[in-house]
Amino acid sequence: MNKTIIVSNRLPLQVKLEDSKLEIKPSIGGLATGMKSVHAEGNGIWVGWSGLTQDQLTPELEQEVKTAVTKEKCVTVPLTKEDVDNFYLGFSNKTLWPLFHYFMEYTTFERSEWESYKEVNQKFADVILENVNDGDTIWVHDYQLLLLPKLIRDKKPNISIGFFLHIPFPSFEIFRTFPWREELLEGMLGADLIGFHTYDYERHFLSSIKRILRLEVNFNNIDYIDRTVTVDSFPMGIDYNKFYDAAVVNNSQENKERSELQRRLDEHIKSDSDAKIILSIDRLDYTKGIPNRLKAFEYFLNKYPEYKEKVRLILLAVPSRSNVPQYQKLKRETDELVGRINGEFATVSWTPIWYFYRSMPFENLIDLYTTSDIALITPVRDGMNLVAKEYVATRTEQDGVLILSEMTGASKEMNEALLINPNNFDQIADTIKQAIEMPIEEQQSRIKILQERLQRYSVEKWADEFFKALDSTKEKEEVFVSK
Ligand code: ADP
Ligand code: F6P
Repeated sequence: MNKTIIVSNRLPLQVKLEDSKLEIKPSIGGLATGMKSVHAEGNGIWVGWSGLTQDQLTPELEQEVKTAVTKEKCVTVPLTKEDVDNFYLGFSNKTLWPLFHYFMEYTTFERSEWESYKEVNQKFADVILENVNDGDTIWVHDYQLLLLPKLIRDKKPNISIGFFLHIPFPSFEIFRTFPWREELLEGMLGADLIGFHTYDYERHFLSSIKRILRLEVNFNNIDYIDRTVTVDSFPMGIDYNKFYDAAVVNNSQENKERSELQRRLDEHIKSDSDAKIILSIDRLDYTKGIPNRLKAFEYFLNKYPEYKEKVRLILLAVPSRSNVPQYQKLKRETDELVGRINGEFATVSWTPIWYFYRSMPFENLIDLYTTSDIALITPVRDGMNLVAKEYVATRTEQDGVLILSEMTGASKEMNEALLINPNNFDQIADTIKQAIEMPIEEQQSRIKILQERLQRYSVEKWADEFFKALDSTKEKEEVFVSK
């Protein structure tokens, strides 16, 4: 039977070593959460890195990792510490990530890290080639593996390959600064179908294809050597029912069944029924606009002092890429800002910001989503942002307000949210006030439309449409070749 091979840098599970013992946790991030349900439904395998490097593994531990990942239908790509330093922390997260998110000032171009990026993409290709059979479909994900489609195509010219980018594709003026731009684009063109979250990213990509590779583009098809490559946008959805159903369970729990976090939140609400909770959840990443959000919240408290002691911001930041200097700097900045704002405004009975720097289990995420009156999501640049969608899906009473940055891919399909420019503190402060004061009927009419859309275009539907488009691209190509 033909199978689908999902490939991404990270597997849906992350293996860690705690006191020389293996610890297995779910991976955090849109790609992992989104693709997890697609993988669970399918009959294929998922190829990726376990999270541990070869030097951390004894033969016994390696066997244990293998057993654990095989249970989840996963296959690992062995990476050395050097690979992780140069390919993952280096080229992926000091070059491609900042460049594609328009952070030119953070972008470094290191030849040695580029060499490592090529080598590690080849390592992924080797593992795939060991596992692929004719008739299989390969679906490659994200910026860490842009060269992989071509590496597979060179060895398996007829295999069906899809590629999806989970982050923005930048405008030509940004992309043209990249020293190895031709090679990167050619790597992607190894795929039959290339998908982006939004039409804008698709347009930027096609513009680079025309201006850098000078290829002919007909609408969204690229004539490339003896093949046609199709490019399209597929905004990623969420596993809507999983979030909605979890919220229903949460809302119906008796006090004794509720988590410690939920009980604390309940007490807080009981103590003042007018008090409002604003929620923000992200990986601690400079693209997420966390300092902006904190400064805008501070600005709000100064501009509308009547809300002091009435509004609390819960800031949940999950540690991410903490070996990269810019992430360490952001952690310091966030700690300082939270300390400063809490120091300035706190009273004996009120702390304006509750700050958690950790990952949380799914049940606690649901506690936070269902308890919060407002979600404040302010990235300065974000390919999609699934947190915005997850918040909406958990609003079973259709109350709640989503404040969303217009710099996110999600904002393109969530017009009923209150859209803001993350650099405009005045606007954010006014929008927080508007959200607090929004009549329940208006909250419900906005959330209702958003929910209907999210339910219709779930992650399953997203994957389905991608596969359908991949099949029809492949069929077109076959006709083209046989003519
Ligand atoms: P990104 O892919 O850039 O991390 P998204 O908003 O698209 O951003 O996806 C983040 C995913 O990670 C969401 O599915 C969210 O539920 C999950 N997540 C974020 N923060 C946490 C946390 N502290 N604990 C557990 N899961 C988290
Ligand atoms: O969706 C964006 C993304 O960068 C994924 O590619 C990645 O897996 C995730 O966020 C989390 O980042 P990391 O894998 O570096 O921890």
